[in-house]
Amino acid sequence: MSSTRPVQVIAVTGGKGGVGKSNVSVNLSIALAQLRRRVVLLDADLGLANIDVLLGIKAERTLADVLNGSCGIQDVLVTGPAGIKVVPASSGVQQMASLGPQEHAGLIHAFSELGDQLDVLIVDTAAGISDTVVSFVRASNEVIVVVCDEPSSITDAYALIKLLNTEYDMFRFRVVANMTRTAQEGQSLFNKLNMVCERFLDVTLQYVGQVPFDENVRKSVQKQKALIEHAPNSKAAQAIRKIAHQVDSWPLPASARGHLEFFVERLLQTADAGL
Ligand SMILES: Nc1ncnc2c1ncn2[C@@H]1O[C@H](COP(=O)(O)OP(=O)(O)OP(=O)(O)O)[C@@H](O)[C@H]1O
Ligand SMILES: [Mg+2]
Repeated sequence: MSSTRPVQVIAVTGGKGGVGKSNVSVNLSIALAQLRRRVVLLDADLGLANIDVLLGIKAERTLADVLNGSCGIQDVLVTGPAGIKVVPASSGVQQMASLGPQEHAGLIHAFSELGDQLDVLIVDTAAGISDTVVSFVRASNEVIVVVCDEPSSITDAYALIKLLNTEYDMFRFRVVANMTRTAQEGQSLFNKLNMVCERFLDVTLQYVGQVPFDENVRKSVQKQKALIEHAPNSKAAQAIRKIAHQVDSWPLPASARGHLEFFVERLLQTADAGL
């Protein structure tokens, strides 16, 4: 059942709402696809600004259909820009983090089928620190925490990292600063967060880079087009491509952990642990 090569599973999270998690997820996915990675983007947020809305795509089937056995995971994937495959948000995705044992096997099987068809799985999480968010983040191999220059963004990111560190033994996080207004802002936001984390927690934070505030992001959201396709030469798109190069250089998980079915197993273990 095990897939043949490791898959890099990356959760994009942040604690606070509206910091740009979905836009980072979507555009990073496309930028990685442009680097010839095979990317699946899992929308783990049932909120309003869904990935299908951002990309103007329409989901026919959802993971709920996979879970009740009426279709396979291939039928759920919607092709987006640069060939990325999107697993649209649905009650099925939410259920992933809280399934009964009978459904476990089906889900693991569904994802193991997918395993040898992708290199990177990006998981766009909801705002906040709900059990579902925590489950998806814990199941991932890499965690990108998106922050922006608002006091509540840093405190919410800190609260999220603190929870994951003290309750769930996670100690390694990556940070992207979004909507920055100056060249120094990203690094100084990172330093601010890193300082409190180093002082009070046992974690390692790594700065990935920044995405500048760019009107093109809002415009592309309105047009339901991905920024990186709609305005490929914009400052924000260039920044995302730079971040994608970094992400692409991250080490792949060690063999077993890298198999996609283990992502699902970890997800289910989190649910079993009483989350
Ligand atoms: N770099 C940027 N420059 C300008 N505006 C941005 C940028 N990134 C995001 N935005 C704006 O912020 C809005 C929220 O972004 P997005 O939906 O990606 O955030 P989110 O963190 O996923 O929100 P939620 O918590 O609701 O899921 C976007 O609609 C866009 O208008
Ligand atoms: Mg979002």
